[in-house]
Amino acid sequence: MATATTVQVRLARRGYDIQIGTGLLCGVDAFVRHCRPAMHVVVVTDSNVEALYADPIAERLSEQELDVNILTIEPGEPSKSPEVAAELWQVMLDAATDRQSLVLAVGGGVVGDLAGFVASTFARGLDLIQVPTTLLAQVDSSVGGKTGVNLPEAKNIVGTFWQPLGVLIDVDVLATLPEREYIAGLAEVVKYGVILDKEFFEFLEQNTDAILARAPETLIHIIARSCQLKADIVETDEREESGRRAVLNYGHTFGHALEAATGYERLLHGEGVAIGMQCAARLAARLGRIDAAVVDRQARLLRRLKLPTDLPEVNPNDVLHLMRRDKKVAEGQMRFVLPSRLGDVDLVGHVPTDAILASMNA
Ligand code: NAD
Ligand code: GLY
Repeated sequence: MATATTVQVRLARRGYDIQIGTGLLCGVDAFVRHCRPAMHVVVVTDSNVEALYADPIAERLSEQELDVNILTIEPGEPSKSPEVAAELWQVMLDAATDRQSLVLAVGGGVVGDLAGFVASTFARGLDLIQVPTTLLAQVDSSVGGKTGVNLPEAKNIVGTFWQPLGVLIDVDVLATLPEREYIAGLAEVVKYGVILDKEFFEFLEQNTDAILARAPETLIHIIARSCQLKADIVETDEREESGRRAVLNYGHTFGHALEAATGYERLLHGEGVAIGMQCAARLAARLGRIDAAVVDRQARLLRRLKLPTDLPEVNPNDVLHLMRRDKKVAEGQMRFVLPSRLGDVDLVGHVPTDAILASMNA
């Protein structure tokens, strides 16, 4: 029996629905129709997700007389590349994809970002539906329209803003997600509490056991609340122009640099974000913006959710160098998202280098 809740994203041009619940993949054909009737669907997925979810989805769509092509990439960050995008464009051309076709991204953030980028560029833009299958993709990357691929030295540097027609989030798929990937996704959930919603942070503190057990009702609640908080921000600053959307990057300036400093092999994105949030909180305390108690409280929640909080073995100067190259550096000036209290953050520039370096030491 399917149960669902809907979060709406209201944008200037057009909005879309995010449906969150259990048993939803069985109704994927109805969701596609609800978004937009189509005759041809290109399903982009990776080889871990293909047999689990993309094949059954394709079967269901085929039963409704839709013409379906499945494009399967290698799992992992290296697939988010211009080369793999070009391969997908070519296969889509060979499959007679045209402007009436729909792209369905079935997978984690790698599939979602790549499929979104390919959809936004092929034939000057195809409609896209996101079916995220990792927690991270369900609470973050499938919502808000950021797409992209990496260059060897810069993550997400080539990309577009391309909003989906809809997002279908079935929490049942999280049952097969490896523990480490699930835990990593929780970092983004904690992030929403710290930057926007103290009550949500408290809910997370009070429900760590249910969260770690992946209890469906708890999952629906934390995913729906995360999507709502993200939607509220994206609605006010869709293209990250005013600074409002930038608050979503809490922990990411440190996190991305830590991912890069460890060769993108040691840390998952969410793990980098968790450590990055601790660095950012320590930096805020050092600058007198928050009490040390807030830093400790965030650390306690992250640890109870089994997330890392300590820096891996890296040279803080190397991390600083990588942070300066981050694409979010505005006109040569690093800006940090720093808490002012639990549930509220500011964008802060002109931060002394010694304070940044010191914040990387626990
Ligand atoms: P991922 O896409 O690499 O997925 C993680 C692993 O889980 C992969 O091996 C995948 O095959 C596997 N997997 C996915 N769903 C599964 C399931 N249900 N059962 C079993 N295995 C499953 O990683 P991710 O953490 O989802 O995404 C990371 C990417 O998201 C990064 O590239 C990051 O830059 C991007 N991102 C984008 C945004 C955005 O706003 N666009 C936001 C945050 C992160
Ligand atoms: N993940 C940050 C954003 O979507 O803006």
